[in-house]
Amino acid sequence: MKSVRTVLLLGLAVILSGLMGSVAYAQDPDQGKATYEEQVWQCQRCHGPNGEGLYARPLAGSEKSAQEWLDQVRNGGRAMPAFSAEQVSDQQILDMQAYFSGLTKPANFTPKQPPTAEDPGQNLMLQKRCVACHEEEATTGQGRLISNFIDRGVVPTQEVVVKQLRTPFKNMPSFRPEQVSDDEAALIAEFLAAQVAAQTPPPALPQSGGETSSPMFPLVLLAVGTALALTGLALRRGLAR
Ligand code: HEC
Ligand code: HEC
Repeated sequence: MKSVRTVLLLGLAVILSGLMGSVAYAQDPDQGKATYEEQVWQCQRCHGPNGEGLYARPLAGSEKSAQEWLDQVRNGGRAMPAFSAEQVSDQQILDMQAYFSGLTKPANFTPKQPPTAEDPGQNLMLQKRCVACHEEEATTGQGRLISNFIDRGVVPTQEVVVKQLRTPFKNMPSFRPEQVSDDEAALIAEFLAAQVAAQTPPPALPQSGGETSSPMFPLVLLAVGTALALTGLALRRGLAR
């Protein structure tokens, strides 16, 4: 008799702790608004500055449950990339859900359609909504993405792009192969590499075959170098006096 009661109590305790695990969070809509507006997690880039919708549907007036929000953000959607727990915490997601489900849905919404481009890699960056965050680079090739590669001296290859898509560093969400395939990543890499090449100054040493003016180049360097060295010497003398 006594042992039955113990088992029952134990069972109750297990059920209770399970329940607490799923409802332990208090949701704070004000905090959710602040989190969204801080823009750290870039939801705004696709869902609009106020959750009114942009490249993706509105979040305002969302009828999805807290659990559905968690699933959506962690796993991504059909066309939405996934965010890790280091990027956006469960609590932040739940707070945002509380905030947006309390707003009214916009009366009408038409998603922003990126234009199409000739270059297949550029076109992919537009159609896969990379442009939501990498706008400048896909439209003109001039942007932080390109200059980051130039600064770091890294050439965008398929490997680099695939690595970033599957295991992104910093704040970029991840894209699954069904969203952006490895082959598509190769096309994107080609486009990015061409942009990097176009903006990287040509190497200082003349290439073979440039007979006319290039032999002058080392002479100019020599002259400048000598002038600098002489100035240096003069300065040192001046200081020593
Ligand atoms: C690159 C664009 C992009 C970014 C960034 C993005 N989303 Fe989405 N999101 C989408 C798209 C597209 C959908 C539409 C459904 C789908 O593809 O799954 C969506 C759908 C959703 C939905 C489901 C809405 C509904 O009612 O069906 C939620 C919730 C959501 N996103 C939350 C977020 C949050 C929170 C963030 C930031 C942490 C975020 N999204 C960042 C593109 C994005
Ligand atoms: C929600 C915003 C967002 C979206 C959508 C997004 N990115 Fe990014 N991406 C970032 C951030 C943030 C970084 C980090 C670098 C930085 O801060 O500039 C980054 C960096 C990168 C890098 C640089 C990696 C390196 O080695 O320097 C590549 C390549 C890249 N993104 C490709 C893509 C591609 C391709 C897509 C579309 C399939 C895409 N990104 C969509 C936010 C985004």
